[in-house]
Amino acid sequence: MPMWARFTERARRVVLNAQQEAGLLGESYVNTEHLLLGLLRESECTAVKVLQQLGVSLSRLQMELERHISHEESKAGQEAELTPRAKRVIDLAYDEARQLNHNYIGTEHLLLGLIREEEGLAGSILKQAGIDLERARIAVRALRERVGVPSAQITVLRTEVLHGLQGRDLLGIHDLTSEECDTLLKLAAAMKQSTRKGEELVRWKRSHLLAMIFEKPSLRTRFTFEAAMVQLGGHAIYLSPGEIGLGKRESVADVARNLERWCQAIMARVFSHQTLVELAENAKVPVINALSDLEHPCQALADFQTLIEHKGEAKGKHLVFVGDGNNVAHSLMLLSAKLGTHFTIACPEGYEPNERILSLAREIASATGSLIVVTRDPKEAVRTADAVYTDVWASMGQEHEAERRRQVFMPYQVNAELLKEAKAETIVMHCLPAHRGEEITDEVIDGAQSVVFDQAENRLHAQKALLAALIGGW
Ligand code: CP
Ligand code: NVA
Repeated sequence: MPMWARFTERARRVVLNAQQEAGLLGESYVNTEHLLLGLLRESECTAVKVLQQLGVSLSRLQMELERHISHEESKAGQEAELTPRAKRVIDLAYDEARQLNHNYIGTEHLLLGLIREEEGLAGSILKQAGIDLERARIAVRALRERVGVPSAQITVLRTEVLHGLQGRDLLGIHDLTSEECDTLLKLAAAMKQSTRKGEELVRWKRSHLLAMIFEKPSLRTRFTFEAAMVQLGGHAIYLSPGEIGLGKRESVADVARNLERWCQAIMARVFSHQTLVELAENAKVPVINALSDLEHPCQALADFQTLIEHKGEAKGKHLVFVGDGNNVAHSLMLLSAKLGTHFTIACPEGYEPNERILSLAREIASATGSLIVVTRDPKEAVRTADAVYTDVWASMGQEHEAERRRQVFMPYQVNAELLKEAKAETIVMHCLPAHRGEEITDEVIDGAQSVVFDQAENRLHAQKALLAALIGGW
């Protein structure tokens, strides 16, 4: 892996900033002082936090640098290359990262490299400011520990991808890129491991609040969101349907405008997806879909975490959904497309997935190499399945259609007879709650191939990863 590939997004920006600084000063080369200027421009970066922790006055440091830097006539158009000394700073930064067991090179390592390159102008100015290498190393270590994520795991998790999620909404799976889905799932898996050991990978420095709006009942979603907030060092506040009268007692927009003043994120389980869109349009804090008529993205994330646990990886695997082309099917189909998993839905005529979501999934799938298929034949579909998934025939809000749907969907029941057509190692999935004896039989849901409670368990970890990324601040 080339060294640049190990640079965090911020460390890369520092080098770009340094090139710009050199250009503005009329230099055709980038020296250590430009790197330090470039670093100070990233006011939120870890290196700046280290400097602050060491009691360094940033404005005085900046003034000192500018006093020593010679302003030459602009040599615009020339390529600003790194001087041998600046290159040595990068090598030293790499060395520092290695010594600290960090698999990435961040701004904090660049700072340590600048301190170590004593011959450089930046090195001597940092020394004059009273910075000592050992104290700086201790500050870097302490800061990482406070942040709470073992640094070795950060590279695997691509911190810059996680940071890029901060402040965003998750209304549907397509709000995430393939890389973001992959990174969130890796974070969720790491969080599960650490929670099981009695540790938490991420703990916020100060408590954050989540508003939980529910227009429909819930066991898993409500419990796991609240538990996730507690384990991250925050708190969740449950708002029942009768309590806030979303869109009745008060407009959706006004509810959003109130909540954003008190909390760091809003999650909502709603009848109409449009309600989520309105909440997101009117709230500055992230809005998370906790199930709508269109999607259930948090469920799909936990389900893929489960699929990966049981099957090693998602790419190239075959997920077969037997049943209604509903919210759960939509999110699973989109996430399959994002991750390169082949997806088949076996459903009765008239209960296909939403056409817009189907064509979106196919468009995404054309880039990741997965196949998205709609069929009427469950037996044929499950033959090549790595996972067979089902969900209720009548979703919340469709109770009045339950009787008609029971008749239409009976040939789509996931039972022992259907499972005989699949491979012995095929897993059986269900988002729960299950209507035992309807879409799935007791024998199957309680059978050896069933992973339904792993899915339920993973709701906690997948959502914890999501909340940590969207709220940020760790
Ligand atoms: N699977 C799921 O979302 O469960 P709840 O409806 O209990 O939250
Ligand atoms: N499709 C179901 C999922 C429940 C978690 C529903 O919307 O009711």
